[in-house]
Amino acid sequence: MDLKQYITIVPDWPQKGILFKDITTLMDNGEAFHYATDQIVEYAKEKQIDLVVGPEARGFIIGCPVAYALGVGFAPVRKEGKLPRETIKASYGKEYGKDALTIHKDAIKKGQRILITDDLLATGGTIEATIELVEKLGGVVAGIAFLIELSYLDGRKKLDNYDLLSLMKY
Ligand code: PRP
Repeated sequence: MDLKQYITIVPDWPQKGILFKDITTLMDNGEAFHYATDQIVEYAKEKQIDLVVGPEARGFIIGCPVAYALGVGFAPVRKEGKLPRETIKASYGKEYGKDALTIHKDAIKKGQRILITDDLLATGGTIEATIELVEKLGGVVAGIAFLIELSYLDGRKKLDNYDLLSLMKY
């Protein structure tokens, strides 16, 4: 299945000059969503994943069905101030400023094999911070899966030492 036909390119959003890749037209198509999820499940199957971890908000949409299919849990990585219990934090640079991501301190047990999911790899800042959180808690990043990789932004360079899957490249 050619998944790119389900991505809607939105010019000048959220800023002039940006060609935004809207995944909602993939998510709301049952067949395409199922297919994309299955591709990631296939990738993850042999990696003995214990837990899926994804950053808000779209990392949840990708990660939860994958976790369900693998029969493992899902732990959310959220922007600062959103998680109710004790967290650890990682700061990261964004395309339009700085931000911080957090995870519950007890979300990962030492040595657990983690699959990280997100919709899109752009500069790689979000995933780098997510990796930092996972590793700080003693998790092992066994794989990272994206729907989309913006190759021209070179985010992959930051992830040289990790096993990476992206279903679509632009
Ligand atoms: C977008 C996207 C990725 C991230 C990729 O999320 O969903 O998580 O940016 O960019 P990067 O590789 O340059 O870090 P955003 O930060 O807009 O958060 P949201 O999903 O909560 O809107």
